[in-house]
Amino acid sequence: MSVYESAVRPLLFRLDAERAHNLTLGAAELGGRSSVVRRAAGKAFTLNDPRLHTSLAGLPLSNPLGLAAGFDKNARAVRMLGALGFGHIEIGSVSADASDGNPKPRLFRVPQDEAIVVAYGVPNEGAHAVRERLAGPRRVPVGVNLVKTNDPAKPANGPEVYEDYAASFAVLQDRADYIALNLSCPNSAADRDFFDELPRIDALLARLVQEDPRVPLILKLKPTRDAGVLREIVAIADGHPFVSGFAINLPSGKPDFLKVTVARDSLEKLPGAVGGPPVEDFVNAILGTLKSITQDRYALIAAGGVTTAEAAYTKLQLGATAVQLYTGLVYHGPTLNKQILSGLLELMERDGYSGVAQISASRSTATSAASARTATGSI
Ligand SMILES: Cc1cc2nc3c(=O)[nH]c(=O)nc-3n(C[C@H](O)[C@H](O)[C@H](O)COP(=O)(O)O)c2cc1C
Repeated sequence: MSVYESAVRPLLFRLDAERAHNLTLGAAELGGRSSVVRRAAGKAFTLNDPRLHTSLAGLPLSNPLGLAAGFDKNARAVRMLGALGFGHIEIGSVSADASDGNPKPRLFRVPQDEAIVVAYGVPNEGAHAVRERLAGPRRVPVGVNLVKTNDPAKPANGPEVYEDYAASFAVLQDRADYIALNLSCPNSAADRDFFDELPRIDALLARLVQEDPRVPLILKLKPTRDAGVLREIVAIADGHPFVSGFAINLPSGKPDFLKVTVARDSLEKLPGAVGGPPVEDFVNAILGTLKSITQDRYALIAAGGVTTAEAAYTKLQLGATAVQLYTGLVYHGPTLNKQILSGLLELMERDGYSGVAQISASRSTATSAASARTATGSI
């Protein structure tokens, strides 16, 4: 058991989940101001090994494990988070204007399943405040996740949605190593389904072209197992060469496929979407489908239930270019990163991979060979 699990977590878990998160983030922000603390954290939590080097949409990464969006919505703790061993961090979701998000309480733990239920509704301080915080140098690449401003009084229904994304994009793109567009926050009830009409994704991308995109763009999609929908989205992206990849968001609500041991009715009582191990299989199924559609034409960032090296390895085998985590950190603390990365090296050694990028590349070769065989009718 780590010090976090035996001593810090029991204290944090006595507090309301959002308060505990804010305290953690505040401590990370404070610690990050000291170069001594950053250096000590870097030594304790980082694992440098050239076999873990990889790249994401042309960005060199020291390892494939990243921090998922939502942990540091306002880029308060970028300096400290960059010292915790991640190969990249994604901040946000950030919107053009500040937003208070949904009423509290809006964050809950489900310890039986090491899960989190989140109903934040993308509260954040807005693009300009975040831009100021992203001015300095950073230790690892920083992606910025953008979302439409959540304002229940102005639900999404037309071109103003594209303008909202374009405004935050214009403010933040030159402070980002990549931009991720959150196309469906599961907890912004007023906006969640706007991009279900797929031509609207095309219209949004057409609007962003006017902002002269200069950094890789990732589309974080509403999760669907419908291969036809995924194929259509990829076809739309094909028309916009500045789109570099895809990621998959949490499903909204409490769908039947969640793998939980906690009583369903107690889960249903908590408002919001579930993160952590209960979504792992669902996200992996979508990842596999996306990989077979995109082959190696797009980067794929995969988050959902990564708490072990095996879980990260599975996502890489399914075709992920990089994996991300959030909920695992809440339960296992910052030593988790090094644990996952050293376990990943062992799994790579076992299976004869000399570099992490080979893992998902071998999946491309396997799926192209399989589709070639299917096309010729040999299987
Ligand atoms: C508390 C919480 C807040 C989140 N906020 C955001 C967000 O603002 N934007 C976003 O794109 N994803 C957000 N996510 C989704 C995560 O980025 C990630 O896709 C998801 O949690 C799956 O990873 P995990 O199982 O490791 O938590 C949030 C997740 C959690 C648990």
